[in-house]
Amino acid sequence: MLGYLAAAALGLAALLGMRTDPWTLVQMPGLSYIFPKQCSVTPGRLLSKGELSSYHGGHGSPGLYLAVLGQVFDVHKGIKHYGPGGSYSFFAARDASRAYVTGDFTEGGLVEDVTELSPTQMLHLHNWLSFYHKNYAVVGKLIGHFYDDEGNPTKALEKALAVIDIGVKLKEQRFEENKQFPPCNSEFNSGTSRVWCSKNSGGIQRDWVGVPRKLYLAGYDGYRCVCVRTTGPPSENPETIEHDDHGDLDNPSLKEYKDCNPLFDWCLLKE
Ligand code: HEM
Repeated sequence: MLGYLAAAALGLAALLGMRTDPWTLVQMPGLSYIFPKQCSVTPGRLLSKGELSSYHGGHGSPGLYLAVLGQVFDVHKGIKHYGPGGSYSFFAARDASRAYVTGDFTEGGLVEDVTELSPTQMLHLHNWLSFYHKNYAVVGKLIGHFYDDEGNPTKALEKALAVIDIGVKLKEQRFEENKQFPPCNSEFNSGTSRVWCSKNSGGIQRDWVGVPRKLYLAGYDGYRCVCVRTTGPPSENPETIEHDDHGDLDNPSLKEYKDCNPLFDWCLLKE
């Protein structure tokens, strides 16, 4: 009880104008019950770039923060990665969203601008954002590129989220495609490539093996190796009783591999 009273007194003093970091106030036990309003506003703290730049975890620094898509995280518990001398210290004290995907860790690459990134790359960046949410505490928002000085999302953030959304849809679409045409297994050994099918190639569990074919789809560059069902009705018309029992072999988006037996479940690539 005395502890709570002491905390309350400390908090009151701070709220009355003493120079105490509001973030430490929120962390005091019981304080949020006594001053719920004051405590509830602090987690959404707004930081300027200048302020964030001091959170590098080095000597004289108030802490160790980084930002992804304008969201600021306290990464102090990951000091071995992000602190001075850590392998990823270049991510500290700034928003380097772009570099999480490009792997360009030069000063020119460690930037927040993500306009050139594809939907798949943005999905990758979003995975990093989820990683930070899961493993580190949110501090607030970085004013500038993704949030304005009132903490509202900017056009840049709206655009980034829209591209992530496209990435999510493409992934769902790819998942559906994979069920019909699971990816082949593949290996490269002493200059020779081999592709083959199995009942779980591409991570898709099924009761058929299939044969390797090249799948050409609109919207994708080139082709990819997929396993194609060779018996039963075509996937487009699974209920039909009038079919040639070829499975999906007649699908127009497929091509056979040259110099490979089209009935074998494997193929040595010479192309
Ligand atoms: C775009 C490329 C890459 C990015 C953006 C990246 C980023 C990161 C980040 C941010 C962490 C710290 C995660 C945390 O907070 O716990 C990390 C950890 C790690 N990374 Fe990378 N990384 C990349 C490539 C690689 C590569 C190519 C390797 C290996 C060859 C690698 C090996 C590791 C290892 C082993 C750890 C964990 C270290 C430990 O727990 O002690 N990373 N990476």
